[in-house]
Amino acid sequence: MKIIAGNWKMNGTRTGLETMVRDLSSVETENTVILCVPFTMLGVKSDCVALGAQDVSRHTHGAYTGEVSAQMVADTGAKYVIVGHSERRQYHHETNSIVRDKASNALANGLIPIICVGETMDEKQAGKTMAVIESGVRESVPSDVNTDIIIAYEPRWAIGAGLTPTAAEIADAHALIAKTLADMGLAGTPVLYGASVKGNNAAEIMSIPNVDGVLVGGASLKSDDFIPIITSVK
Ligand code: 13P
Repeated sequence: MKIIAGNWKMNGTRTGLETMVRDLSSVETENTVILCVPFTMLGVKSDCVALGAQDVSRHTHGAYTGEVSAQMVADTGAKYVIVGHSERRQYHHETNSIVRDKASNALANGLIPIICVGETMDEKQAGKTMAVIESGVRESVPSDVNTDIIIAYEPRWAIGAGLTPTAAEIADAHALIAKTLADMGLAGTPVLYGASVKGNNAAEIMSIPNVDGVLVGGASLKSDDFIPIITSVK
């Protein structure tokens, strides 16, 4: 059983999500299917797929115009929230410490945070991939976790670029994340791979050791693209 999560980013409409949910309702799978959608689409009825947000405030409540708290996300019935996505880290300067606060708020409100880590092209070229991944996990995961979390490894240079690391690179990254989580007392935490996952590479990627599922961007927007990923593995 794998976790197949979609990240719609700033795309879609409520009607589009309703259509997607209808399309997914006829898919037979034992995998866990999650769609992380814009805040405005949370609350759409979706029995066959769990919904999540794509970000949450690092603050709990109060005078933060435009922010949405973890409590508000949970109030919609959502079960998950992505924190520390590379686009948040890049465009909104989110650091590991901000991401950790967001993950803590999510956990305090019963949400499962999907905590993203991954290296930029500059970091990769400087040979820092492993160091960035390890510090990302150690510094972004709250210290007092005693419930479910999910980690997503997303090599930032590969997102939306049609590029993927080699299978050996993915294996090395996931082995390091699994070892780091075990060191932190979090053995068994699911680790997803994300960046340019499509129907034609999903099965191969999910056959790599320590890859417990995928976090899919562009190919999660249309059911014709997303369903083959969901059904590519048992
Ligand atoms: P793409 O699948 O479009 O590369 O996006 C990956 C991603 O950022 C998922 O969070």
